[in-house]
Amino acid sequence: MYIAKMSVYSRPLILILCIGLISFSSPPHFILPSHFPPPTYNFSTHKFSPKKVMIGRMLFYDPILSIDSTVSCSSCHLSHTAFAHTDHNLSHGIGDSIGTRNAPALMNLAWQNKFMWDGAITNLDMQSLAPISHPREMGETINQVLLKLNNSALYKQTFQKEKIESADVLTSLSQFMLTFISANAKYDSVLRHQAVFNSQEENGYTLFKKNCAICHQEPLLSSFEFKNNGLTIDTNLNDLGRYHITMNPTDSFCFKIPSLRNVEYSYPYMHDGRFKKLMDVLNHYTDGIKKTSTLAPELSTSIILSKNEKIDLIAFLLTLSDRNFILNKQYTYPKENFKQTKD
Ligand code: HEC
Ligand code: HEC
Repeated sequence: MYIAKMSVYSRPLILILCIGLISFSSPPHFILPSHFPPPTYNFSTHKFSPKKVMIGRMLFYDPILSIDSTVSCSSCHLSHTAFAHTDHNLSHGIGDSIGTRNAPALMNLAWQNKFMWDGAITNLDMQSLAPISHPREMGETINQVLLKLNNSALYKQTFQKEKIESADVLTSLSQFMLTFISANAKYDSVLRHQAVFNSQEENGYTLFKKNCAICHQEPLLSSFEFKNNGLTIDTNLNDLGRYHITMNPTDSFCFKIPSLRNVEYSYPYMHDGRFKKLMDVLNHYTDGIKKTSTLAPELSTSIILSKNEKIDLIAFLLTLSDRNFILNKQYTYPKENFKQTKD
């Protein structure tokens, strides 16, 4: 196990984790970064255990969670693209059905308390119910999933429980996802005074702080608020975003501000995956902002960037790429666990 410089906040969690380690020998890669604020996830509700993380990892890769055993969480959330899905702008689920939104990158979830582009989910431990039961994602019911798992020798042995219950499944998945911590990009090394930006990146960082950081707040690179960033409305999807949840007209076309960490890997961009390149995104912010009544006030004055400044800003955005995160072997398909009882 590798633990970075710990903050005061991380100590109780590490303690819990260490207790878990005594009974389980394959610890997950778990880092609580010293330069991050305290996590908002409530770790006291469910005991964090490496065993649960391991089970969550199996479930994440297992199509058993879908109605016809064709789709797993990893079909749409791929570790080598920061758990986003770069092949599709809109998500693809069972029977090749197409959803209405882009699969977001999954990382630093312990610091968020509203999930989905519109914040429909307020508890990570409940999150997995949504894709499992979504007719265009996995199309399954949690009761059917429990039947299948309780009939599986592999899972009976792995969970070591007489009866596997929904909380076992949901918290295992959330605990695996809580280990998706991205905090080792060049940007982080600079914050930790272990590296320096080159002059282009430095200039990009200055432009970023001036134009973007109010919403893509440091160090998580998002405030995780809901805002309308001036995209033109796609009249086919007509997605009103946060309004669907609050029914408050001022939330129309507001979406969760995504973190910009690993943005090099997590294209296409925005809730509907409309932009393929970072340059397209920057061109949107300088020339494409649509002024509607719910446009974020932060964007009411135009952002002006020259071609060279855009190139510098992109150089900065690339310092948010965390290769340790996307190549982390603790996040990949757990081949060895699936072999274990198949005799
Ligand atoms: C068919 C593709 C698909 C599958 C399968 C899928 N997801 Fe997702 N996931 C998405 C999409 C699309 C969203 C955004 C949905 C929205 O905003 O309404 C999302 C959102 C999420 C989020 C919220 C992220 C955030 O930043 O708000 C989490 C967490 C997540 N998925 C985990 C999972 C887990 C765990 C599974 C398996 C049980 C899973 N997903 C299966 C496509 C998928
Ligand atoms: C008013 C707050 C706000 C400001 C200022 C802002 N953004 Fe955003 N940004 C958002 C929101 C909200 C989204 C998601 C919008 C959606 O999908 O509908 C977003 C999405 C993005 C994405 C897509 C990420 C992904 O994973 O899909 C990128 C890249 C991005 N912004 C970069 C920037 C840059 C660079 C700047 C400065 C030039 C900037 N943003 C300024 C709110 C903001």
